[in-house]
Amino acid sequence: MNSKEKKIDVKKIREEVKKTYSEAISRKNLSCCGSFEETDCCAKAKDIGYSEEELNNLLTDSNITTFGCGNPLAYSEVREGDIVLDLGPGAGLDLLIAARKVGPSGQVIGVDMTEEMISKAEENIKAAGVKNVEVRKGLIEDLPVKSSSVDWVISNCVINLSPEKEKVFSEISRVLKPGGRMVVSDMVGENIPEWLRENKNLYSACISGVISEKEYISGLLKAGLEKVKVSERKTYQWDELESFIKSTPEIGEDIKRMAKGSDIKVASIKISAYKPVL
Ligand SMILES: C[S@@+](CC[C@H](N)C(=O)[O-])C[C@H]1O[C@@H](n2cnc3c(N)ncnc32)[C@H](O)[C@@H]1O
Repeated sequence: MNSKEKKIDVKKIREEVKKTYSEAISRKNLSCCGSFEETDCCAKAKDIGYSEEELNNLLTDSNITTFGCGNPLAYSEVREGDIVLDLGPGAGLDLLIAARKVGPSGQVIGVDMTEEMISKAEENIKAAGVKNVEVRKGLIEDLPVKSSSVDWVISNCVINLSPEKEKVFSEISRVLKPGGRMVVSDMVGENIPEWLRENKNLYSACISGVISEKEYISGLLKAGLEKVKVSERKTYQWDELESFIKSTPEIGEDIKRMAKGSDIKVASIKISAYKPVL
């Protein structure tokens, strides 16, 4: 594939992902890594690691939902006064959790490419009454954020959706302050066949675009980050994946195809890294 073709692919993938999430937040009937019917939201959030306390304190609006596959901020050492950057915050659940941790003297920034998601996050930020949280429109591959300016980069089930992951890793490394840290929940996978790579529904559902844990780790190291560590790993069984995605019938069929006698493995992990002080 020449570089021009690759560029067109990247654009197409991004547009498809954007369309999926703009529809998901508008209709709440399409999902990545979960079900987004209103009634299911809290149950799903608890399933993926949010505590009752976090949710009770922050769900200021029934429309706040999670499209994540973990809780990147759980047990993190984010402190008062820190600056936190969330890659792809969606409706903003992690932005609000971060805002609580950093307090009024800190700052929380989200960068998302989907306007409908940004509007929803802004509504939720307003409803929560926090003043130090903002969402910028942009790409995680080209962050609208100054170099060496943030203490933490967090992200929840987003980097797998990028067709240019090496750029994302290098942007994380650029924007972190020396001594800053990244903590990300994301999907990874092994033995992904070509037909699955090309399946746009499962791409937007956080499956087709995954890289392996090994590639994730080496990508972060190559970007100049250190102390790369996987602290949580949940490998999905097929029935779990099927009910977890609570998908359209076509996706259900695709998942059955994935399950049939294959050695495809899909997992969610929590991975952290550190930007060295040189
Ligand atoms: C699976 S949802 C996760 C949302 C949120 N992190 C959560 O836990 O609910 C993916 C989000 O990432 C955004 N996104 C995906 N690819 C992106 C990219 N390349 N640049 C910026 N935002 C992106 C989407 O618009 C969407 O809001």
